[in-house]
Amino acid sequence: MEVWTINEQGIVNHPWLDAPLADYEAQMAQAGLEQAQLLSDIFADALEKFSPRSIAVLGCASGNDFNRIPASVSRVVGVDINPGYIAKAKARFNGRFESLELIVGDVQDGTIAFTPVDLIFAGLILEYVDVPTVIARTRSLLTAKGPLITALQLPGADSRRVSPSPYPSVESLEESMHFFSPVELRKVAEASGYIQSESRTVVLAGSKQFQVQVFRAGRRTTQSAGRAGNRRAGTLRRQAQ
Ligand SMILES: C[S@@+](CC[C@H](N)C(=O)[O-])C[C@H]1O[C@@H](n2cnc3c(N)ncnc32)[C@H](O)[C@@H]1O
Repeated sequence: MEVWTINEQGIVNHPWLDAPLADYEAQMAQAGLEQAQLLSDIFADALEKFSPRSIAVLGCASGNDFNRIPASVSRVVGVDINPGYIAKAKARFNGRFESLELIVGDVQDGTIAFTPVDLIFAGLILEYVDVPTVIARTRSLLTAKGPLITALQLPGADSRRVSPSPYPSVESLEESMHFFSPVELRKVAEASGYIQSESRTVVLAGSKQFQVQVFRAGRRTTQSAGRAGNRRAGTLRRQAQ
């Protein structure tokens, strides 16, 4: 089954819409920039550790990490705000999985909805969004014991947020990128009823550092339960139309 959804509300103005895929991929492929490989290793480790049957990748770009998804995963959901990235992911992975749902939309937007998955991966996207909003939203998108795995970029010695780039569209992302502290993330996640089960620092040869955190559902807060209920109602309404 292939599902390709364009968020009905439309997104008109977002810095990631101005970064063509070719620029972004060329930047990621730059000699010495092994970040993409590191992120995909973190993702692959998580899939091996938790053996999910269904997964969602928030900020999936063109699906670079999808190559690491084992055959045991039957359902894959990818969400990204950039329609060009999602179109490329579709071209690359159409027919590769039993079920592939690619959603163009803003993960902060309450209309982004899919049937809960066994694992959510949010790698290097929390730097660009309102973290409490997104973390709270993930609760209703995960099955009961499903882990949320996050990767945050940590501030480096050179105080650059985005690696220097010859591509102006990529350089300009620096303005919208904000470091978010792992300690803060833990607090935000706990406020949404998660419990942190793991936190580790990963260092990229060169100097960049990332914090990988794993959150499992603990108690469900009244707030998150209410939000989930509202969203389920919204989803049902849209399906009925
Ligand atoms: C730094 S890239 C990370 C890509 C991939 N996760 C990786 O680790 O290689 C951030 C991705 O998040 C997407 N993104 C940024 N803000 C978003 C939002 N509010 N909603 C959905 N996707 C978003 C961008 O389009 C981009 O593909």
